[in-house]
Amino acid sequence: MNHLIVASQNGGTGRTTLSVNLSYALASRGRRVVLIDADPLGGAGFSLSTKASTAQGFYDLALDRDIDRVRVESLLLGTRLPEFKFLPAGHAAQQPAIMDRLDQEPDLQDRFRAIFTAASDTSLGPDVVIVDTPAGVRGLPYRLMRSGSHLLLPQLAHPLGLRTLPVMLRALAQLRTGQGKEAPMIAGVVLTMVEPGVPVSLEVQREFRELLPGHMFFDAQIPRDREFLQASQAGVPIALLQRHPSATAFIFDQLAAELESRLALNNPGHENEFTRLMD
Ligand SMILES: Nc1ncnc2c1ncn2[C@@H]1O[C@H](COP(=O)(O)OP(=O)(O)O)[C@@H](O)[C@H]1O
Ligand SMILES: [Mg+2]
Repeated sequence: MNHLIVASQNGGTGRTTLSVNLSYALASRGRRVVLIDADPLGGAGFSLSTKASTAQGFYDLALDRDIDRVRVESLLLGTRLPEFKFLPAGHAAQQPAIMDRLDQEPDLQDRFRAIFTAASDTSLGPDVVIVDTPAGVRGLPYRLMRSGSHLLLPQLAHPLGLRTLPVMLRALAQLRTGQGKEAPMIAGVVLTMVEPGVPVSLEVQREFRELLPGHMFFDAQIPRDREFLQASQAGVPIALLQRHPSATAFIFDQLAAELESRLALNNPGHENEFTRLMD
């Protein structure tokens, strides 16, 4: 099962942007995806739909001990792509008292895991469940990270991202100490808000690559681009903003292809299946 938790130590890193656009890119490549908005602020919902903020969803399910596949299925919202379904944050997410109570539940991780598993078992038969999380590495985000099978780690290509990297590294070490082999695997690090040709950004990218092993990084990195603001305002993935999507939109196709390879979603033995252009 591929339960991919998109997590970062800072807010405004582009977690939601990455979650929404990567889910869309995977689905448009034919992968079946359930995107779960596990950020109580509901950012992914706002980025996709006008109805998501009033719908039941993830945290309503988390209030129950018996997580039921049928109920999870009933709360999934469809998108224009049959391969892409969305589970919004839900009503409970908007009620601080309920969220505080939920945060105290000792078996919350088991419930999160049960929801991800139930989402995997829905009739869509998703290849991957992608989970957008709140910022930080304590409390809710930490428990979400613990409940996943893989972590996707967007990191700000800014001095702030670099300065706070140790916070994430400590959380990863803590996950490993607490769970051993059960700890989620790192699917990889994606540099975000990259400013091509800007010296500080280049310097930060270089330092990131010195601090972490090279294989942890996705080749694709996400540039700072005002199109993201327009897409966010319009409530669409960036690939749907224009009839002829921009170069930035295609970066998520590259990310999707890299992720498919990292999660071994490609069917072995089918590599040479191609259709010739002519004859
Ligand atoms: N690569 C980018 N370039 C420019 N703006 C971006 C980029 N990624 C995200 N944004 C904008 O920055 C803000 C925060 O992004 P978001 O994805 O919500 O971050 P997070 O979920 O980590 O808090 C949003 O307004 C979003 O539209
Ligand atoms: Mg967000």
